[in-house]
Amino acid sequence: MNKYETIIVEKKGAVTLITLNRPEALNALNSQILADMVDAFAAFDADDSQKCAVLTGSEKAFAAGADIKEMSSQSFAQMYGGNFFGGYERITATRKPWIAAVNGFALGGGCELAMMADFILAGDKAKFGQPEIKLAVTPGMGGSQRLTRAIGKAKAMEMCLTGRMMGAVEAEQSGLVARVIPAADLVDEAMKTAEQIAGMAPLAALACKEMVNAAFETNLAQGINFERRLFHGLFGSEDQKEGMAAFVEKRAGNWTGK
Ligand code: CAA
Repeated sequence: MNKYETIIVEKKGAVTLITLNRPEALNALNSQILADMVDAFAAFDADDSQKCAVLTGSEKAFAAGADIKEMSSQSFAQMYGGNFFGGYERITATRKPWIAAVNGFALGGGCELAMMADFILAGDKAKFGQPEIKLAVTPGMGGSQRLTRAIGKAKAMEMCLTGRMMGAVEAEQSGLVARVIPAADLVDEAMKTAEQIAGMAPLAALACKEMVNAAFETNLAQGINFERRLFHGLFGSEDQKEGMAAFVEKRAGNWTGK
């Protein structure tokens, strides 16, 4: 039984599918949806049977932003004192890989949530944007930082200052999304991709995620050193022995996660 109010969580084999489910508000991100996602991602991370997750919304909207109606009357003391949006750090702390499958609008906090994923797969009608400036505010869930790292200063600055939306094709050409898929096939394709990742040796998948993310936090020499240490470390795993033996013996590897 689904225990959440605002999301639907389904385990399909080794893949967890999390669907945002506030259709009346185009999946606007309020405190409840954040609490539900934090719980669902923590449960996914702690569940040994689950290896990869997909986060999606509806065909019309991945998420149309933070919930404007919830935020509108908040004071500075409530926002700053209460560390509004601080809970999203618990989602980005997820250690296992997860994919955002974005159909429709991914605006403001919706775009920022998608960018917290390890990568984004976009439906061909997806629209990304940081329109907060039209509300006399700015991105507040990492958009100014992650969008700039993903697509560079010129486009990120233009999008944040004008609030214009970017379509799926431009988003792919700009490096914001990994692949564009016909909207109707998006979730199936994201699940297939997640199953592919779930079929990899789990420690190698964790290490890949950690080292690619380190590229955003370190200089090149430190990042390469970090990568090499993790690479060396994998030679202490049973799965590395199995993976290389399986290659030589021309068979599929059989992973233990050890
Ligand atoms: N917060 C709260 N409710 C929202 C919402 C949001 N971000 N986005 C849409 N909704 C609600 C609408 O108010 C509407 O509810 P009612 O029927 O009760 O009026 C319902 O969802 C459907 O929306 P629309 O009627 O507006 O649908 P549309 O198809 O005409 O337009 C849209 C779609 C262009 C996405 C439009 O809804 C829109 O512009 N939404 C706001 C986008 C936005 O500004 N996002 C940024 C929010 S601020 C933020 O995210 C801060 C941050 O950095 C974290």
